[in-house]
Amino acid sequence: MAENLNQIGLTAFTKLAATRQEAVNMAEPEYLPKEDAYAANRLAKQLHPKHQYFVISKIKDHGEGVKCFTFVPDTKRKTEHVAYFAAGQYLSVNLDIDGMPVTRAYSISSSPKMAAEGEIELTIKQVPGGLVSNWIHENWKVGTRVDTSGPLGTFTYEGLRDAKTVIGIAGGSGITPFLSMARAIADGDEEFQLILLYGSRTEDTIVYKAEFDALEARTDKVKVVHVLSHEEKEGFEHGFITAELIQKYAPKEAYSVFLCGPQAMYDFVDKELAKLKLRRKFIRHELFGEMHNPKAQKEYPKDITVPENVRITVIKEGTSQVIEGSTDDSVLQILEKNGIAAPSHCRSGECGWCHSRLVSGEVYIPTSVDGRREADKKFGYIHPCVSFPLSDMTIEVKPKS
Ligand code: FES
Repeated sequence: MAENLNQIGLTAFTKLAATRQEAVNMAEPEYLPKEDAYAANRLAKQLHPKHQYFVISKIKDHGEGVKCFTFVPDTKRKTEHVAYFAAGQYLSVNLDIDGMPVTRAYSISSSPKMAAEGEIELTIKQVPGGLVSNWIHENWKVGTRVDTSGPLGTFTYEGLRDAKTVIGIAGGSGITPFLSMARAIADGDEEFQLILLYGSRTEDTIVYKAEFDALEARTDKVKVVHVLSHEEKEGFEHGFITAELIQKYAPKEAYSVFLCGPQAMYDFVDKELAKLKLRRKFIRHELFGEMHNPKAQKEYPKDITVPENVRITVIKEGTSQVIEGSTDDSVLQILEKNGIAAPSHCRSGECGWCHSRLVSGEVYIPTSVDGRREADKKFGYIHPCVSFPLSDMTIEVKPKS
C-alpha cells in the first residue's frame, strides 16, 4: 500500500476500502497488547491519572478557618509524579468518614510549576456545620495519606475562547483557583492579564494578602483590588462587586470575567454582569460545591406532595439493595450516608462522573446545575449529585473506579 495518499492513483484510491477489508480478513485474530505496551498510553496515564496517592508534607494555617495542605507523591502506593495541571483545575479527594465514602472537589491553589517540581497544594476553608471540611481540618496531619483524582475541571484560561484580560471575581474560599492562576502568570506559564476583584469582610480577614502583594511585585500582569464589605479604608474598595466597580478596573477592549465564590455572590454579581451586556462566552463560573436546601428554591415542585423520606432501590454490579434517605439530600448524599460508594468528582452536575440510570421514580433537578446531555434526559439518566428525590425510586449506579 502506498505510504502517502497523494501518491495513490485514482483507481487504487477507489479500491482502498476493499483492500483494507481484505487485509482485515487475512489477519490472525489476536488480543491487543496491554495498554501500557504503548508509550503514548503510558504518557496519557501519567498526564491524566484516575487516582493520585499523596502524603501530606506541610500544613500552613492561614487563620479564618483556612489551612493550606501541601502534598507530595506517595511512592509506596506507586504515585511517582504529581500530574501536571492547568491553573484553575481541581482535585476530587476521596475520603472515608466513619465508614461513609465521600468525595469533595477542592481547587488547586499552587502553581503548575510547583507540580512539575513534585508538590501540589489544596487550600481548604472550614464551612460552618460542614461535615467534610471540618473533618479534614481535624484529621489531616503531616504524614496523612490522601487519595485524590487526577486534575479535573474547565475553569481555566483558554486563549482561543477568552479575552486577553480576565477580570477575576472571588469571594471567600473562591480565591484558590485565582491564586494558582496568578502564580502561573508570574511563573510565565500563563500569558493573560489578571485583574482580580477579591471580596472580603475586613482587611484582617483577607486570606493570602501577602502572597498576592508579592505576586503583584513580581509581574505587572497581576493586579489585585481588595473589596471590603464591612470596612471602609484607604487603599481598598468598599461595598460589593457591582457593574460600576467592574467597569472602573476593566480595560476598554474586550475582557473575560471569571467568577468563583459562594452561591450568594453569583446571585448578586450575575445581575450586575447582565448590565454590562458582555458576550456569553466571556463569562465563566466555577461550580463551587454541593447544592443544599432544594426545597427553598423557586422552581422546586409545589404541585405535588413530597414525603420527608424516601426508599431508594439501588442496583449496582448486578445486586440490589433498598436504602432510605431524606428528600432534603441529593441522591448521591443518600447513597454515601448509606455506605454506598458511588462515582463522583465535581458534585455540581458538571463533570458527568456520577451519571446513573433512573429506572423509576421522580427527582427534582435544578435547572441551573442540570449539566446532562439531551440524550441523557431522553433516556432517563441523571446526575445523582444534583438530583433530589421526590418519590421512592430505583436507580442503577456504576461501580466506583
Ligand atoms: S459528580 Fe460531577 S456530575 Fe455528579
